[in-house]
Amino acid sequence: VKVLVTGHRGYIGVHLVDVLKAAGHEVTGCDVRLFEGCEWEPFTQADHDLHKDVRELEPQEVAGHDCVMHLAAISNDPMGDINPDLTASVNRDASIRLAQIAKETGVPRYLFASSCSVYGKRDGLIDESGDLNPLTIYAKSKIDTEAAVGEMASDDFTPAYLRNATAYGHSPMLRIDIVANNLLARALGTGAIAMISDGTPWRPLIHCRDIARAFCAFMEAPQAAIHNQAINVGGNQENYQVKQVADEVQRLVPEASITFAQDSRDDDPRSYRVSFDRLAQALPDFRLSYTLATGLEELHARMIEHGFDQSDLEGDQFVRLRTLGQRLGRLAQTA
Ligand SMILES: NC(=O)c1ccc[n+]([C@@H]2O[C@H](COP(=O)([O-])OP(=O)(O)OC[C@H]3O[C@@H](n4cnc5c(N)ncnc54)[C@H](O)[C@@H]3O)[C@@H](O)[C@H]2O)c1
Repeated sequence: VKVLVTGHRGYIGVHLVDVLKAAGHEVTGCDVRLFEGCEWEPFTQADHDLHKDVRELEPQEVAGHDCVMHLAAISNDPMGDINPDLTASVNRDASIRLAQIAKETGVPRYLFASSCSVYGKRDGLIDESGDLNPLTIYAKSKIDTEAAVGEMASDDFTPAYLRNATAYGHSPMLRIDIVANNLLARALGTGAIAMISDGTPWRPLIHCRDIARAFCAFMEAPQAAIHNQAINVGGNQENYQVKQVADEVQRLVPEASITFAQDSRDDDPRSYRVSFDRLAQALPDFRLSYTLATGLEELHARMIEHGFDQSDLEGDQFVRLRTLGQRLGRLAQTA
């Protein structure tokens, strides 16, 4: 199968190329390489590499693929706020345009990297039918894309929206600005697991490689199972309170002490527990290959191997926001 993956040189994307190629698929990647030079390990290359802005993809570059997996984005809430126009342009407008091109050029399937952040702060267990509560431009860009692309769904064009839980875990393109990786990196870099909240907020978590495996499963699923569906991607057992994540980190780094913020300095008010029942119904054979415990154990081992320390924690290599702040100008000129 011929697959076009955008954002294929990102944290999740490098796993996705590897998973697809291991399954025998032919991969074209499109990435503007915002994080060039940030890799900490070599990674599997796509068969064809388009080094360009996804907003400039041409129909002839999209035609001929059997599936588009669209991951390229300004990829989290704080980054989305740096330049709202750019976030709307890349995350929403380009995603809608790419779906349009895919449909017009006869690509039958379009899988969009959406996010559980569309749920914002909510009580109880949330499923896909509930109200959405986007707290950020990033989250809103995901909802707007789902809605606009939904209008294009037809018998021969199947979009689906993977509402991914928050990723964590090892990747050759590591990022440590996401909660579980961040707590582990702080423990190793500073000897303390300093939380910026009281530790009570809930988050659904998923290993980044399991997101990649989910994309592959969505590509292989029967059309009827996923047609124009928003589906939460994660596991019912993988909803955690941030303090539970800290406990897992402390298990791996016992000398690190956990501290809670007295007055919450957390500028991320999200808290939600998510149901993944629809995923189990749509893709009954799909199983997560990691739990938080096994995923963090693996990342911890790799960090020790690499000698991860305070300079890594404070440098630019693994923190998307810092790197992006310096490189965004390049993209913004064409926003
Ligand atoms: N990491 C998470 O916790 C998480 C959770 C839910 C959803 N997602 C979504 O999954 C996708 C991938 O996330 P990630 O963690 O791998 O992010 P990432 O920042 O590591 O990777 C994004 C990739 O997209 C590329 N990119 C950005 N703008 C581009 C443009 N205009 N043209 C071409 N390439 C561009 C970047 O160079 C980068 O390689 C994103 O859409 C993100 O919103 C991520």
